[in-house]
Amino acid sequence: MRILGIETSCDECAVAVVEDGRRILSNVVMTQIPLHERYQGVVPEIASRAHIEWIMGAVKRALSDAGLDAGSIDGVAATARPGLIGSLAVGLSFAKALAWSRNLPFKGVNHMLAHLYAPQLVEPIEYPFLGLLVSGGHTIICRADDFDKITVLGTTIDDAAGEAFDKVAKSYGFGYPGGLVIDQLAEKGDERAFRFPLPSLHKGEHRYDVSYSGLKTAVIHHLPSYLQPGAAASPENIAASFRKTAIETLLSRLYRAVRDTGIRTVVAGGGVAANAYLRRELAKKDELRVYFPPLPLCGDNGAMVAGIAWHYFARGETDGWDIAPSSRVMDFKRRQE
Ligand code: KG4
Ligand code: ZN
Repeated sequence: MRILGIETSCDECAVAVVEDGRRILSNVVMTQIPLHERYQGVVPEIASRAHIEWIMGAVKRALSDAGLDAGSIDGVAATARPGLIGSLAVGLSFAKALAWSRNLPFKGVNHMLAHLYAPQLVEPIEYPFLGLLVSGGHTIICRADDFDKITVLGTTIDDAAGEAFDKVAKSYGFGYPGGLVIDQLAEKGDERAFRFPLPSLHKGEHRYDVSYSGLKTAVIHHLPSYLQPGAAASPENIAASFRKTAIETLLSRLYRAVRDTGIRTVVAGGGVAANAYLRRELAKKDELRVYFPPLPLCGDNGAMVAGIAWHYFARGETDGWDIAPSSRVMDFKRRQE
């Protein structure tokens, strides 16, 4: 079964064709980075307008890269939530119209579940596992019992992990997009140059939650001295020290979940899963089976949407034409104390 998957939740206009949930026949990602760069962040109005202009071209290219025409597609899927409403509406409406015109099954998928599925485009992973979902909008540590069944153990109580990278990069004028720029600078820096506070480990209900506001404030506190001529603080050292603390925060919660649940398989997903420090540190853990998406599948893409949709279709699950986009992540089951 060949599924065409559309992803327009934020600033990537992405379309892919995936066969049977795994074989990627094409994967087109048209990035809007140059459109948002001068604002140092995604401007929703600009994003949705660009999606409207690009979506037809992206779909045509995904079909032609796969050597197919619209008549050879067996199902259509699109991200329905969470994301920017205007951006989501473009991909979702386009996907519905395509499916309706061809009399094909249609499914709206959850962006975060699709991120968690991305490593399974490479190989199947046995459930249950622990998920580390880290993107620009969300930070979720969860237990996954199936591709669509997760229990949220922890989340962020303020900024998302990627958002913290983006905000620090923006304050220091490091460049855009922030996560990648900080990661690249950090590779050349000394992570012990600055000692930033690790957010304190919460107890009870918040055992697996993270917080980035204190760290962000502490890092930005160094800005005046960084700006002085001849200052000792280099971009590389600030980036490396911040990156280490930001990622160690996530790892401390994840390892706590491993200890408490006894689950030793860990799956990472989302834009921050591309982080070099995170990938290196988790790879050192011999006692864990760790799965990351390949780098091109960490960020937003249509392949993860088409891939996960196949599993819904295989169960006979489709959505009606009335499914609407939502900015909310979903009512995932939250861990009971
Ligand atoms: O999943 P994604 O592409 O879009 C959302 O769903 O939000 O994630 C984007 C986020 C941005 O905040 C970006 O700065 C961050 O992922 N990011 C990174 C890296 N590459 C992208 N953060 C840390 N290290 C990276 N290498
Ligand atoms: Zn994403």
